[in-house]
Amino acid sequence: MDLHGFLKALARRWVTVAVCLVLAVGAALAVTQLSTPVYAAGTQLFVATRSSEDTTQLSQGQSFSQARVQSYAAIVPTRQVTGPVVRDLKLSTTPEELASRITADAPLDTVLINITVRDADPKRAAEIANAVAASFSAVVERLETPKPVGSRRDADAPPAAVSPVSLGVTQQAVAPDAPVSPRPLLNLAGGACVGLLLAAGLVVLRETLDTTLKTSQALSELTGLPALGTIPYDKSAPAQPLITAAAHSQRAEAFRKLRTNLQFAQVDDRPRIIMVTSSVPGEGKTNTSVNLALSLVEAGVSTCLVDADLRRPCVANTFGLVQDAGLTTVLIGQARAEEVMQQVGNGLSVLAGGAVPPNPTELLASARMSEVLQDLAKTYEAVIVDTAPLLPVADTIGLAPLAQGTLLVVRSSKTSRDQVRTATDALEQVGGRVLGTVFNMAAPPKGDRYEAYGAHGELPAPRLAAQQKKAAVMDLASEK
Ligand SMILES: Nc1ncnc2c1ncn2[C@@H]1O[C@H](COP(=O)(O)OP(=O)(O)OP(=O)(O)O)[C@@H](O)[C@H]1O
Ligand SMILES: [Mg+2]
Repeated sequence: MDLHGFLKALARRWVTVAVCLVLAVGAALAVTQLSTPVYAAGTQLFVATRSSEDTTQLSQGQSFSQARVQSYAAIVPTRQVTGPVVRDLKLSTTPEELASRITADAPLDTVLINITVRDADPKRAAEIANAVAASFSAVVERLETPKPVGSRRDADAPPAAVSPVSLGVTQQAVAPDAPVSPRPLLNLAGGACVGLLLAAGLVVLRETLDTTLKTSQALSELTGLPALGTIPYDKSAPAQPLITAAAHSQRAEAFRKLRTNLQFAQVDDRPRIIMVTSSVPGEGKTNTSVNLALSLVEAGVSTCLVDADLRRPCVANTFGLVQDAGLTTVLIGQARAEEVMQQVGNGLSVLAGGAVPPNPTELLASARMSEVLQDLAKTYEAVIVDTAPLLPVADTIGLAPLAQGTLLVVRSSKTSRDQVRTATDALEQVGGRVLGTVFNMAAPPKGDRYEAYGAHGELPAPRLAAQQKKAAVMDLASEK
């Protein structure tokens, strides 16, 4: 899936994206609301060597402090430092737990140590930070004090040893105003990112598992057959199946294109008997047969529409015609085709299905059926045959060799690749000549371009007004 395909899939599955976003942002909000605020108070210490007048000694002392300051920082979060703090401040915690809430660092090439303490109470965080600084200074000075040699306590004993370093507070800890966590904006942004990632993952997964065809391009790539028509989804189609009811609709225009493509596709050997079928039920075979026949008549082509779906004949019903006399009546020799042929207003001849027979497969593959179709092809320039679906029943496979060409209807986002492949293979095996595909119930093109152009045949009002205004200005200018 390329980037364009991915973005289109995201747009198509916007509900998944919206649900993931709402869930993830909701979870982030809940976490923010439920988590206890944590405050951080910081203090800073300066490590000095005992003062000396001598600049060489001063410089040596500075280097000494810098060399040791990293080690001092590591001592801050230890029991030695936190133990006295817990005791002095009477904290209801253990030295270890307190140590886990303390961080200390010494910026490089400095003799500074930053100590940060986290606590649920801002005032207590500052108190603990200051107490830790004091306790830490005492620990360092004790550690750095040289141990007296031996245990002489007489007058000759050397003076009591002192630590070569001393720690001074450069910045006292104060109670912070705002907590360091939770951070609502960061949590919301994180939640939105997680939601988008989750949605992207789900969309990719669903697209990978979804083997239905979404575009007529994908259908052409799969079958290698010419895409003769793309009929947009039209919610009014079930109530108004005939394009004559809305002659300027996108669907009507799409059927005209299908008619033209069909006429141009086979210029040298134009098939007269065209069977319309599909892999599975409900893909729009009847709708396509009926409207293709109507658009052929519209173009002045003498056309006969035959209902050869003998299990669910629907053509007569679509036009409000008589169903009981039709193809089966002719096949069993009770009447001739012209006797049961019915006419529809605009000059279309319709051979309804007739009574539903018990053996449709045999009837449709019979020599008599071939004769009927050949006879019709002598009278009409186009014989459009509506059929049953290919995969569930064998009726249409038997009929395919009798037709001079087949149109395969494929329903967008419904028919799977496997179903289309099986159907084309089946037609190929019986020598059926597939003229091309009709991609039905496709996502309609954006805007109502056909309506705006076909219905009025003139520029839309705002553009026309703008052009008239421009012309008037130019007239004025030329008059001057
Ligand atoms: N382009 C379309 N937009 C919206 N609905 C459509 C479109 N084409 C067909 N339909 C609807 O889909 C349903 C099935 O259509 P249709 O009866 O033509 O299919 P079919 O392949 O002949 O079905 P069956 O296999 O039962 O004979 C009908 O309700 C029809 O109105
Ligand atoms: Mg049908």
